[in-house]
Amino acid sequence: MDNRPIGVFDSGLGGLTGVKELVRLLPGEDIVYFGDTARVPYGGRGADTIIRYGKEDIQFLLSKGVKAVLCACGTVSSTLPAAVTDALPVPFVGVVQAAAQAAVHASCSGRIGVIATAASVRSGGYEAAVRALRPDSVLTARACPLFVPVIENGYVGRDDLIVTTLAKEYLAPVRRAGVDTLILGCTHYPLIAGAIADEMGPGVRLIDSGAEGAAALRQLLERQDLLNGRTSGGAVSFYVSDSGENFAEVGGLFLGKDVHGTVHPFTLW
Ligand code: SIN
Repeated sequence: MDNRPIGVFDSGLGGLTGVKELVRLLPGEDIVYFGDTARVPYGGRGADTIIRYGKEDIQFLLSKGVKAVLCACGTVSSTLPAAVTDALPVPFVGVVQAAAQAAVHASCSGRIGVIATAASVRSGGYEAAVRALRPDSVLTARACPLFVPVIENGYVGRDDLIVTTLAKEYLAPVRRAGVDTLILGCTHYPLIAGAIADEMGPGVRLIDSGAEGAAALRQLLERQDLLNGRTSGGAVSFYVSDSGENFAEVGGLFLGKDVHGTVHPFTLW
């Protein structure tokens, strides 16, 4: 039994997909969220920069006394070396492994698609994680660099022209590959899951990397007896590295509640 909060981080809004699922699965747990809104997006940056940002994000959460860290950022999760995460003083869960496991479980044909940031695709992290679980799988990976800025700017409607146009362009090769399962490998993408589902068609199962990361974290906390034992009343505090206005606006819409009072702009650098 452990009363400390759970830490969750992302480059911006995307990790809220993990928070939403964590709140649903573990409504009694306190959560500290960090969104690096001053430096989002991470996905077009080089590996050394992403590793530095990821380490700083984790240090921020550790300074808040968290009992475990959910890396709800596909880019950091696919780039941060195991040597870094294994050395942390608290358990760490990344979305890549969790989403790969869910995709392998969901796929009948073994033809699996991954859409993610340029850095995640370049790292090959999702492909390696899927192949380790199902060596005969056929992966089609596609970088979608414009999705994150569009989502961070609040374009998340199923029919928003900018979203549907990008979805058509980015998803065409994935559709052609005939995948039956598509990993939304950047945690921002579930915010536009409606438009992605429309483009991929009803036969394709979408895997929400943020939600899968949350489910994996719950299992880990259960296994290690780190839950706080409460079944309701958990509080979520949001910290952001830039003005919290946009984050509260778009994040509140996604979470379905007003979060203005719980968003704290924080200057770390
Ligand atoms: C980004 O900051 O570019 C996206 C974060 C992610 O990969 O989940």
